[in-house]
Amino acid sequence: MKKDDEHDVKKTEDKTSSMKKKASKEMNINKIRADFPILTRNVNGKQLIYLDNAATSQKPTKVIEAEAEFYRKHNANVHRGVHTLSQEATELYEEARQKVEEFINARSRNEIIFTRSATESLILYFMVTHCQNSNQETR
Ligand SMILES: Cc1ncc(COP(=O)(O)O)c(C=O)c1O
Repeated sequence: MKKDDEHDVKKTEDKTSSMKKKASKEMNINKIRADFPILTRNVNGKQLIYLDNAATSQKPTKVIEAEAEFYRKHNANVHRGVHTLSQEATELYEEARQKVEEFINARSRNEIIFTRSATESLILYFMVTHCQNSNQETR
């Protein structure tokens, strides 16, 4: 393994270990549920428990508010306009990319690609890796 890769693995292990310690200390289901307003609903006379996250994930209040704030104040094309709203939307989009990069400990912001769905992500991943392999075979 290359020195850079060893460093990355060690960094990821340290971060994972500290996240696990933090999570086990702080995991409080009722506190987490309180972040999701939809989970205060009763369905069929029972407290809602939602498990269909692969199809559609529920949103915590912070996400709902951030999305509403975006649509109220900044909604515009990202990376495709020169007007103020488009510039603001692009800046917010890139800030989100930066946060995801830090959160998953990616090597670069360029590794973060937002897609519409899990299916689209998998197809994109397949196409990129398939093309890389095909290019290597033809060299
Ligand atoms: C269990 C399960 N996995 C994966 C998916 C794919 O999700 P996406 O719409 O993000 O491609 C779905 C979509 O309904 C699903 O129900």
